Amino acid sequence: HRHVDHATPDLVSEVVASGDRHARIPDYETLDTYRAGGGYGTLTRLRETGDWEAVQAQVAASGLRGLGGAGFPSGKKWGFVRANPGPRLMAVNGDEGEPGTFKDRYYLERVPHLFLEGMLIAAWAVEAERVYLYMRDEYPAVLEILRREIAALEAAGLIAPGYVELRRGAGAYICGEESAMIESIEGKRGLPRHRPPYVAQVGLFGRPTLVHNIETCHWIARICREGPEVLSAHERNGRKGLRSYSVSGRVAAPGVYLLPAGSTITDIIAAAGGMAEGHVFKAYQPGGPSSGLLPASLDDVPLDFDTLQPHGSFIGSAAVVVLSDRDSARDAALNMLRFFEAESCGQCTPCRIGCEKAVKLMQAPTWDTGLLEEVCQAMADASICGLGQAAPNPIRLVAKHFSEEISGMSENE
Ligand code: NAI
Ligand code: SF4
Repeated sequence: HRHVDHATPDLVSEVVASGDRHARIPDYETLDTYRAGGGYGTLTRLRETGDWEAVQAQVAASGLRGLGGAGFPSGKKWGFVRANPGPRLMAVNGDEGEPGTFKDRYYLERVPHLFLEGMLIAAWAVEAERVYLYMRDEYPAVLEILRREIAALEAAGLIAPGYVELRRGAGAYICGEESAMIESIEGKRGLPRHRPPYVAQVGLFGRPTLVHNIETCHWIARICREGPEVLSAHERNGRKGLRSYSVSGRVAAPGVYLLPAGSTITDIIAAAGGMAEGHVFKAYQPGGPSSGLLPASLDDVPLDFDTLQPHGSFIGSAAVVVLSDRDSARDAALNMLRFFEAESCGQCTPCRIGCEKAVKLMQAPTWDTGLLEEVCQAMADASICGLGQAAPNPIRLVAKHFSEEISGMSENE
């Protein structure tokens, strides 16, 4: 995999194995190196003399939005959490489970302290008494790096012992849904909660809780150090900021590409070295399976928050998967629904039964589009969380854009 990160070009080239028994530990930036370059200077200064509202204004000026995928304005969350009386907590969502997404891992395996400093700045901003860091267990190298570096932060006196508690997920996709993650941290089954109340009001152990994604924290550190322009200075197709696209599928060089937000799929394929040899661009998943599949004809749409709404899709965590003339769109959609069926927590009927029924209907040589649409409507209207609400997207988009594949056996079957 070739990785291109315009922001930290000196840190992207090598991934070196170490002698660890469980995980290959890449050659990441350690606490000493990070501090030698001025790291944790911002946090120390803010803790001594900082004004959280000034930091919030900087974050707002940068245009930073939640990079777990929902794009909620990050600084605004701090205000919501602070509006509730303490003690307050912070939970970091490192359960990067969206198929095709690997940007958080990319940053954690290279520059973990940018994330950790950003996390601690956000925790400072809301006066969080404790931080719970929920990491997916499928990233053993990341877990090892975080264990080492959190211990190093404690030894350096930058955090009190136990201030940051590392928790491991156990492979359930739904535990990346923020309220299910909170249930999981509390030691319960990961079942999404109804909202309101939002976690900013009633979160972990009933306390007001700030929830941020890993990459969001990474950018908070950079905004505080380099100014809001680190994001806001970038513009493409009328969209501001940068987006870390995780690019995989039929491209020559899969990897994480930091590009201006508002890049089109044409820009992204070009950044990833073009199509793989012998493949012709046919379709793409713009942001995880919940975003469905779009046809190659929609190759001039800026891939940013809000811009895909008119097309029945969204950018989410920017997990771009490129399909070619050798792939079947209907098979891809079926695969996505099988994933949702397997990962549905099962607590609400429209999602539990809807995913199962959809999978059965999608296996027929010819789709019963009327009946499938009824199932989709019930799921979108009545599911508790985003999994069930967005699961219809691949079905609807394939029915709309690839109708020739659903009216008989596809070539690939
Ligand atoms: P959401 O829009 O419900 O919430 C986003 C965030 O804003 C949450 O932290 C929520 O608590 C907060 N929020 C929203 N309205 C609020 C209000 N009025 N007051 C206080 N806080 C408020 O979206 P959700 O369901 O959390 O996330 C959906 C996204 O997650 C999808 O776009 C999907 O792409 C992405 N996703 C990412 C994955 C990954 O691995 N990175 C995995 C699965 C989904
Ligand atoms: Fe669980 Fe699906 Fe309902 Fe979400 S929509 S709460 S995953 S059953």
